[in-house]
Amino acid sequence: MLAAEVALPPPRLESEFALERAIYERRSIREFTSDMLTLEQIGQLLWAAQGITDTVRGFRAAPSAGATYPLVLYIVIPDGIFRYMPEEHKLVRIREGDHRLALARAALNQPWVSSAAISIVITARFERTTRRYGERGIRYVYMEAGHAAQNILLQAVALGLGSVPIGAFYDDEVQKVITCKEAPIYIVSVGHPR
Ligand SMILES: Cc1cc2nc3c(=O)[nH]c(=O)nc-3n(C[C@H](O)[C@H](O)[C@H](O)COP(=O)(O)O)c2cc1C
Repeated sequence: MLAAEVALPPPRLESEFALERAIYERRSIREFTSDMLTLEQIGQLLWAAQGITDTVRGFRAAPSAGATYPLVLYIVIPDGIFRYMPEEHKLVRIREGDHRLALARAALNQPWVSSAAISIVITARFERTTRRYGERGIRYVYMEAGHAAQNILLQAVALGLGSVPIGAFYDDEVQKVITCKEAPIYIVSVGHPR
């Protein structure tokens, strides 16, 4: 059982796995074993999506319009639901218990959402970006979610994991499962390929 706050191991910044190979091998995987992810793997996926890669300016792994950083990431794992805190590279528990099945129900009963070891729910505070860019900021937030999701998908391949991006879900239902204020935009489910 994970603690209410979990420090994530520092991300690895190098590997033998070429980026080109990750791009070539990436496929949506929808069948997973029941094996869970290690904290190292969870930390690496979250770092790839939103980790701080410039500690001086606080810039993150994925680009952001005007560095406004509207994205907030949550993870749904058997141990509970946690929010990713990029600045401290740590997890903060939001809910206890395994809510993967509830998340799958909110995602039109897609079975791979409940069988995946982890689902990363990408949510956003639109006002962080629309405050600066007005209505155009809305499209920027969606673009940014795509950047973050793609980083997760490619990082998963490089870790020997499988993943599937999920766009089909009821926003309000996902929000209820996560108990978050932010708007859910995208889910990436990740696990060990069967
Ligand atoms: C915006 C978006 C939403 C998607 N939503 C879902 C989804 O809800 N469920 C699912 O199983 N796959 C989903 N996919 C994955 C696509 O079905 C998949 O990318 C496509 O079939 C091509 O296969 P590939 O990812 O293996 O290249 C989504 C992909 C994108 C880009």
